[in-house]
Amino acid sequence: MKSVLLSLVILLTSFVMGFCVEKTHMTEFKPGAIWLDTEGKPINAHGGGVIFADGNFYWYGEHKIWGKSEAQKADGGIHAYKSKDLMNWEDLGVVLSVDYDNPDSHIAYGCILERPKVIYCARTKKYMAYFKLYEKGKGYDTAYLGVAQADSPEGPFKYSHRVLCAAAQKGTGDFFLFVDGNGDLWHLAVRKPDKAFCLTKFDEEYKTPIDSSVKVLEGIPLKTEAPAGFFKDGKFFLLGSGSSGWAPNTARLLKANSIFGPFEFLGNPTSGVNPINKLGPDKTFGGQSSFIIKHPTKDLYIAMFDIWTPEHPIEGKYIWLPITFDADGTPKIVWRNSWKIE
Ligand code: GAL
Repeated sequence: MKSVLLSLVILLTSFVMGFCVEKTHMTEFKPGAIWLDTEGKPINAHGGGVIFADGNFYWYGEHKIWGKSEAQKADGGIHAYKSKDLMNWEDLGVVLSVDYDNPDSHIAYGCILERPKVIYCARTKKYMAYFKLYEKGKGYDTAYLGVAQADSPEGPFKYSHRVLCAAAQKGTGDFFLFVDGNGDLWHLAVRKPDKAFCLTKFDEEYKTPIDSSVKVLEGIPLKTEAPAGFFKDGKFFLLGSGSSGWAPNTARLLKANSIFGPFEFLGNPTSGVNPINKLGPDKTFGGQSSFIIKHPTKDLYIAMFDIWTPEHPIEGKYIWLPITFDADGTPKIVWRNSWKIE
C-alpha cells in the first residue's frame, strides 16, 4: 500500500512539475502574437531595445505591473531577457526596479519609466541604461532622461541620475541613442514643448548632455516620436511615428547622409495587414516603433514595434519584422504572419 501511495505521489509530482516547467521553443517569429519566454510566460519588455554582448542578445524593455492600467501607474522598471537566436528568450527578471520604499526617489513607484535602451560604454566598461523618466505625480510634464548603470549586461542596474537633453527645460520625449566611430554617445529626440527634433552629444562617460552641442535636425517633421535609427550603405535611416499617445498612427521614415542631417522624408515604409487586429500601414499594423536591431553577423535589420494596450499594459504585444531594401536601397517593412532568420 505504502509503495502504491509513493508511486502515486511521484506520478502526481512529475505531472505537476511537467506542467510548471513546460519549456517553450520558438522556431519562427510570429509578429503581433503572444510571445512566450523559455519558461512559457508572456514576455514583459515593452518599448524596448536589444544589444549583442558576449555572444548573447539582451532585450531590455518596460516591465509592466500585472493588474495595473497605464492610468494606475503600471511601470515597474526595466525587465531583461537573454537569447542566442533572438526568438527564444530566457527571463533575467527586473534588472532595475522602481523604488517601492522611498517616495522621494526619482524612480519612486508611480513615476513613468519608459522606453529603456542599454548602451555599452567601452571607456568606463559599464552598461548604461537610459529611459524616459517623468516624476511621480507630475504626469507627462518634464521629460527627464534617467540613467542607470551596471557592470554586466545581465544587471543589476543601479539608478544613477537624471538629465535634461536638448538644453530644454521641459526635456525631451522618445529617443534614439547612437555611439559614433570615436566612441561618443549621441541622443536624438523630440524637444518639449515645441516638438522640434534635436541632437545632443554626451560627455566622455555617457553621463551628461553637453548643452553647447545641441542641434535642431532639419527635415524631420514636427512631433516625430518613437525614433529608431540604423545605418546602411553609408546612409542613416530614422524610423518613427506621429504623435497620438498609445493609439497607433502612420509610421514615417527619414534618410540622411549622417545623423546631423539634413533629413529627407521617405514617407511610410510599411505595407500589408496584421490579420490579428486587421490594421494595415495607415496604423502601422497597430504598432509603434521602438528599436531596430542590426544582426551582428548577418545583413539583417529587424524593426521592433509595440502594440500598446494601455488598459492592460502587461498584455501589450510585439511586432518584429525584417526590413527589406528596394533596388535603390529604400527600406520597406512588409507584414508577415511568420518568418525566420535565414
Ligand atoms: C507614445 C510614446 C510612449 C508613451 C505614450 C504615452 O507616443 O511613444 O512611449 O509615452 O506616448 O501616451
